[in-house]
Amino acid sequence: MKISIASDHAGFDLRQKVTAHLKEKGYEVIEGGADSADKPYNYVDAGIKIAEDVLSGKADRGIAICGTGIGISLVVNKYKGIRCGLCTNEYMARMSRQHNDANVIAMGGRVVGQSLAIAMVDAFLEEEFAGDRHAVRVDNIRAVEDKNFK
Ligand code: RB5
Repeated sequence: MKISIASDHAGFDLRQKVTAHLKEKGYEVIEGGADSADKPYNYVDAGIKIAEDVLSGKADRGIAICGTGIGISLVVNKYKGIRCGLCTNEYMARMSRQHNDANVIAMGGRVVGQSLAIAMVDAFLEEEFAGDRHAVRVDNIRAVEDKNFK
């Protein structure tokens, strides 16, 4: 599975830890965003990179990190076909896959610690979509997109 991960400066340190973990587990990783934690980098640009990688098929899933996870999740969710869950615990990460068929997870580098972030990423990447009644709801989301996105 190919993963696109990007962050702003506030998510830089956590992104480094998560990226190392992903590579250790054998995932192919496309990394984007800030070059350091010290130089400001706009989370909007990091979000655009992830959304484009996922929608173009360059990546199967995305991991989006900024200070709170809020800004970058707002950006990726502006793209038709992106379903990003902003998660603060492992249960949410698991449910974002099982119930929402999320293709991007967002988290805050200033909100979650490294071990929790890694547990969330593992849950997000390993959990399957449950389908069934949840598939109907995801189709309903698509209908909302079709109605409201140009
Ligand atoms: C950067 O200071 C911060 O605003 C950003 O990382 C993020 O938390 C925005 O939602």
